[in-house]
Amino acid sequence: MKISVIGTGNVGRVLAAKIAQAGHAVVIGTRDPEATLARTEPSPTGAPPIATWHAEHRNIALVTLPEAGDHGELIINATAGTGSLAALHATGPHDGKIIMDVANPLDYSHGFPPRLSVCNTDSLGEQIQREFPAARVVKTLNTMNHMVMVDPGRLPGLHNVFTAGDDAGAKATVAGLLQQLGWPVKDILDLGGIQSARGMEMFLPLWLDILQSLGSWDFNIRIVRPEQPG
Ligand SMILES: NC(=O)c1ccc[n+]([C@@H]2O[C@H](COP(=O)([O-])OP(=O)(O)OC[C@H]3O[C@@H](n4cnc5c(N)ncnc54)[C@H](OP(=O)(O)O)[C@@H]3O)[C@@H](O)[C@H]2O)c1
Repeated sequence: MKISVIGTGNVGRVLAAKIAQAGHAVVIGTRDPEATLARTEPSPTGAPPIATWHAEHRNIALVTLPEAGDHGELIINATAGTGSLAALHATGPHDGKIIMDVANPLDYSHGFPPRLSVCNTDSLGEQIQREFPAARVVKTLNTMNHMVMVDPGRLPGLHNVFTAGDDAGAKATVAGLLQQLGWPVKDILDLGGIQSARGMEMFLPLWLDILQSLGSWDFNIRIVRPEQPG
């Protein structure tokens, strides 16, 4: 499949690399490829300059956002949540396409811990779906760190990844992609329509508290239930 990842941080990089490894035709979209490649400072979330990464991943082109929009049948939103709508508008119009949204609406303008820029009665996933009504938005992978996203086996035992979206076909395609990232099908938990993006995003304050308490972000959610008959 032709897949465009938008976002050049840790998340965009690991997803692009693993998805390309699985045999998909992948590009990464950024606002200004030349300026992005010329950066010498780490990204706002601590990823090393992308030129180093790109030198080791020459098969993944760094393109403008409109070029990423032209390329991808499936667009992965791995941009900072507060810039996601702007980035997706530059990439759009997305009609008929799947937008796999892994972003979190974290607002760092008041320092740490960040606030959610949208919550309770709305979510970033829903905002994206409203903004691009002819796209098929699926929220997923936002509840874990980027290393776990593409290598769930790094954590022992069963643990879960969630999906939320209004289009069953889009969710099936995304579930297939999650399996290619290493997620066993039984660990993929579909929460329902895109409105369920609210809970997935509102988990972030708890996720940040767990991170602070453990001093590590190498963890994930595991849903534990009584033994099921049969
Ligand atoms: N890091 C994790 O482990 C993790 C885990 C779960 C979810 N997430 C979520 O995944 C997303 C990506 O996280 P990240 O840590 O990889 O990177 P990030 O630093 O949060 O975001 C980097 C990307 O956001 C784009 N961006 C920032 N402001 C923008 C704006 N105003 N308009 C357009 N684009 C803008 C940048 O575009 P340019 O390339 O053009 O500069 C850059 O590519 C975030 O929403 C984050 O909350 C992260």
